[in-house]
Amino acid sequence: MNAERHAFLLVGSPRRGKSTSAALGRYLGDRLAEQGWWTGRAFLYGLIGNAERERDLLGTLREVDLVVLAAPLYVDSLPAVVTRFLELWARDIADCTDPPRSSLTAILNCGFPEAEHNHVALAICRRFAHETGLGWCRGLALGGGEAFGGRELDQVGGMARHARRALELAAAALAAGEHIPDAAVELMARPIVPRRIYQWIGNRSWRVKARRAGTLAELRARPYEANS
Ligand SMILES: Cc1cc2nc3c(=O)[nH]c(=O)nc-3n(C[C@H](O)[C@H](O)[C@H](O)COP(=O)(O)O)c2cc1C
Repeated sequence: MNAERHAFLLVGSPRRGKSTSAALGRYLGDRLAEQGWWTGRAFLYGLIGNAERERDLLGTLREVDLVVLAAPLYVDSLPAVVTRFLELWARDIADCTDPPRSSLTAILNCGFPEAEHNHVALAICRRFAHETGLGWCRGLALGGGEAFGGRELDQVGGMARHARRALELAAAALAAGEHIPDAAVELMARPIVPRRIYQWIGNRSWRVKARRAGTLAELRARPYEANS
């Protein structure tokens, strides 16, 4: 047991109730807590833009050993609120006379079934850590995160077994002061369900949404094609 270690989870999804990012981050945080870590968390949406809460958060981050950023992929990158937060955090680290004591890890998930879509956003996190002087513990990338629907990983059953195992391996490594191992990265990147099934469910869900919106006949419309 090591009661002195502090981890802080930052959730970069605007979904408060059912966020896959939050569920992934919580699962990792719970595993760290089992190993005696103190864990805290904050949702960046609603916090960034509030000067007092931003100050409190940055003050907290100066004191913690590990920051876990859990976020969805938005337009092949980090959500805007996460980028804004990184700008504020970089400025705070630069203003501080002492070098940062924390390390950073990121857990990113995207809607497309392939985990690789997250790689540019993960590289942004890695670069951020290197340029600010934070430690970088590596990150995890999940594809098809929408399939979890923001449920707690314990409630998703076999579909989340690789993600759970990946986070358990990651927590054990992080608690030992090590980088996230290749095995965890590989497990997290495994497809949640076969790609064809995921696409079939995704297409059906778009059709249901379009029917409700009265735009079913326009799903394959290409309004700009004539001008290109
Ligand atoms: C505005 C917006 C942009 C998105 N852009 C992408 C994208 O570029 N690639 C992708 O695979 N998924 C994209 N997604 C899907 C989310 O990454 C995906 O639904 C994720 O599981 C949401 O996680 P959350 O529940 O933590 O918010 C986008 C979703 C939204 C709302």
